[in-house]
Amino acid sequence: MATVSFKSATRIYPGGDTPAVDKLNLEIEDGEFMVLVGPSGCGKSTSLRMLAGLEEVNEGAIYIGDRDVTHRPPKERDIAMVFQNYALYPHMSVADNMGFALKMQGVSKEDRAKRVGEAAKLLGLEEYLDRKPKALSGGQRQRVAMGRAIVRNPQVFLMDEPLSNLDAKLRVQTRTQIAELQQRLGVTTVYVTHDQVEAMTMGDRVAVLKDGLLQQVDTPLNLYDHPKNKFVAGFIGSPAMNLLTADITEGGAKLGDYVVPLERSLLAKAGSDKTLTLGVRPEAFKVADQGLPVHVAVVEELGADAYLYGTAEHNNEHQQIVARIDARMPVEKGSTIHLAALPDKLHLFSTSTEERLTA
Ligand SMILES: Nc1ncnc2c1ncn2[C@@H]1O[C@H](COP(=O)(O)OP(=O)(O)O)[C@@H](O)[C@H]1O
Ligand SMILES: [Mg+2]
Repeated sequence: MATVSFKSATRIYPGGDTPAVDKLNLEIEDGEFMVLVGPSGCGKSTSLRMLAGLEEVNEGAIYIGDRDVTHRPPKERDIAMVFQNYALYPHMSVADNMGFALKMQGVSKEDRAKRVGEAAKLLGLEEYLDRKPKALSGGQRQRVAMGRAIVRNPQVFLMDEPLSNLDAKLRVQTRTQIAELQQRLGVTTVYVTHDQVEAMTMGDRVAVLKDGLLQQVDTPLNLYDHPKNKFVAGFIGSPAMNLLTADITEGGAKLGDYVVPLERSLLAKAGSDKTLTLGVRPEAFKVADQGLPVHVAVVEELGADAYLYGTAEHNNEHQQIVARIDARMPVEKGSTIHLAALPDKLHLFSTSTEERLTA
């Protein structure tokens, strides 16, 4: 097991004018489950591939433990990678697929069988060892790919969207299994996904990337409670945080006729901006007698809770609003209700820099 450090690691693809990964600094602890998350094209796979040695590092360095591996070939890094498409050999049995890397390393037949057997037991694959990949379900293939990584007993697991080929229900089950397995094995893991729910449920910590730049790295709860900027605020959480541009007035921020009272010291942080961005999570709105008038478009009933989707008007523009409400409280489609933001759950962002203003 080992720590992993990205030290200003940068990748510029040939012919590319902007870096695919730009000065990534990230310290991953021994045994930690670190998730890299962000929209498609933000540099997640490139970061992982640099760590694996499959992609050149143009500037900066990468360490595994205290070894500088920046210019080491993949096989000297002591890592095992699980790919999105699993990359199983179709003509080989499950057992041979799982043991292949060990065979290449010259591990004896007996030792191979032992290690493959142990991994198969861990993954519930014992009865499938003689089958070919095509005779397996998607979930079983995914486990074979995991098994192939496990038998190598590496210092670090790397996983690039390993669940994206599974259907929604299996994906939810499998993410719990992977998280449990990782905890049991205690192997430092870097896991890539574009799905923020997956990131939040699996990661000890989550690193959010956008356009090749690391935005924030923290525990799932801290990311949710203290997003550093408007991008992270909107990306983490489902349904997404309401991000509303409001006019700065004496003593508050104004949306239509609704004024959210704010302390003077907080408003001062907006500098010369005339507006600021109010961030309100769906659960931080309350139906009230006074507040932001919202025209109700849809109410999505989920049993205990319901989500209300509607629009509010501000400076002659419609802003989309989503609020979590009590499912037992009747709200009619097409009606207008008032929503008040809970003051202690408010997030404020600068309109010009998009950085967080609240603590
Ligand atoms: N082999 C490549 N050659 C040139 N550009 C690439 C290559 N691979 C990825 N890119 C570009 O680098 C950026 C990051 O890609 P990638 O790391 O695959 O993103 P992600 O995994 O987050 O979707 C994207 O703009 C992508 O188009
Ligand atoms: Mg990718």
